[in-house]
Amino acid sequence: MGEYIAELNHINKSFPGVKALDDVSFNLKAGEVLALLGENGAGKSTLVKVLSGVYTKDAGEIKIFDEVIEDLTPKKAQELGVAIIHQELNMCAHLSVAENIYLGREETHSGVLSNREMNKGAKAILNRLNIDIDPTTIVGDLAVSKQQMVEIAKALSTNAKILIMDEPTSALTSNEIDDLFTIIKKLKSEGRGIVYISHRLEELQYIVDRVTIMRDGKFITSMNFEDTTMTEIISNMVGHEIKEKFPRVTCERGKKIFEVRNLNAGKMVRDVNFDLYEGEIVGIAGLMGAGRTETTRAIFGVDPKESGEIFLDGEQVIINRPIDAIRAGIVLAPEDRKKDGLCVKLSVHDNISLPNLDLLCNRLGVVDRKKEQVMTDKAVGSLTIKLPNAEVDAGTLSGGR
Ligand SMILES: Nc1ncnc2c1ncn2[C@@H]1O[C@H](COP(=O)(O)OP(=O)(O)OP(=O)(O)O)[C@@H](O)[C@H]1O
Ligand SMILES: [Mg+2]
Repeated sequence: MGEYIAELNHINKSFPGVKALDDVSFNLKAGEVLALLGENGAGKSTLVKVLSGVYTKDAGEIKIFDEVIEDLTPKKAQELGVAIIHQELNMCAHLSVAENIYLGREETHSGVLSNREMNKGAKAILNRLNIDIDPTTIVGDLAVSKQQMVEIAKALSTNAKILIMDEPTSALTSNEIDDLFTIIKKLKSEGRGIVYISHRLEELQYIVDRVTIMRDGKFITSMNFEDTTMTEIISNMVGHEIKEKFPRVTCERGKKIFEVRNLNAGKMVRDVNFDLYEGEIVGIAGLMGAGRTETTRAIFGVDPKESGEIFLDGEQVIINRPIDAIRAGIVLAPEDRKKDGLCVKLSVHDNISLPNLDLLCNRLGVVDRKKEQVMTDKAVGSLTIKLPNAEVDAGTLSGGR
């Protein structure tokens, strides 16, 4: 066999209005962890989706274990030993952990599903990975981080030789990340090749052997991790030299604008108090299960509050539903944007309009398209959201984080 277990040569892939991959070449060796890096929308997820048969390439060559594969499908990729953990969670929420792990290759006995076998098998896989989840739990009832661990277990259960992880740590706690790194090191020592996509550059040093950098759909460079520096990696990602990744911005602290007093909601949120001043960012820290998400949900009126007061500019506001919060000028960007934040089948433009219909409708309740256009352009422009036009489905945008 040649030096590489997977090779992509001169791959092109376009979507309406976007050239997501422009003549990209990429390779992976056995026993290495390769970090695939680049800014939001660089084409990383598209590239690994081509390698795992999810997207069909427009042009170029795919070689897996030295074999040129013309029409790669997800099934064929799996048979060849390629497994992918997608950036967005891809579980069937109403099925159990075991059913998800065995989806598409269920264990049967005389044509009947053998749940006992599958639960046993799933338990063994989870145990091997040190993941403490009951295989009969319904996936939709698990926290996002646990769902991510199930995704990982599912990918590993196919005994893949080429394992692709697209932002596996974005929802994990530091303990879970440690466990994942232990697993990655073990898989590497077994001779598997791992493609690792992450925006958390500080974690690369623990596992990565080589980095491949993309920018605007193009291959930029590939380097041994040992031979490069963070500054060099970042300059290649952004296309110019960067002195400080997040330069500190100092703002005058203004007047107190927001106050939460003795907030109680459900089991998790007990007597929460904090203040927020103009020009300030307040971080809410805590371990998994500490009640951070629940606190924001209660403030925003997603979950009912038992007691507590909220003040905006010194005036008490009553928030029973999200619309009360929005009207008061509070917004929430939720943890699971696909489930709670966006309507992925609606356009970017509709998603931006939805929480603002009050402002956009005329007296007859008809949306003013001109106003809508101005609002969308402003939002897309100020956040530099990368898209061909605002009519595309929100679900087609790159994952970000
Ligand atoms: N299914 C799709 N339909 C239309 N456009 C798409 C689709 N998938 C990706 N794109 C576009 O292709 C470009 C590359 O996206 P991709 O998801 O590969 O980026 P990425 O490097 O993974 O970014 P991130 O770090 O934000 O996840 C983006 O402009 C994106 O909007
Ligand atoms: Mg991505």
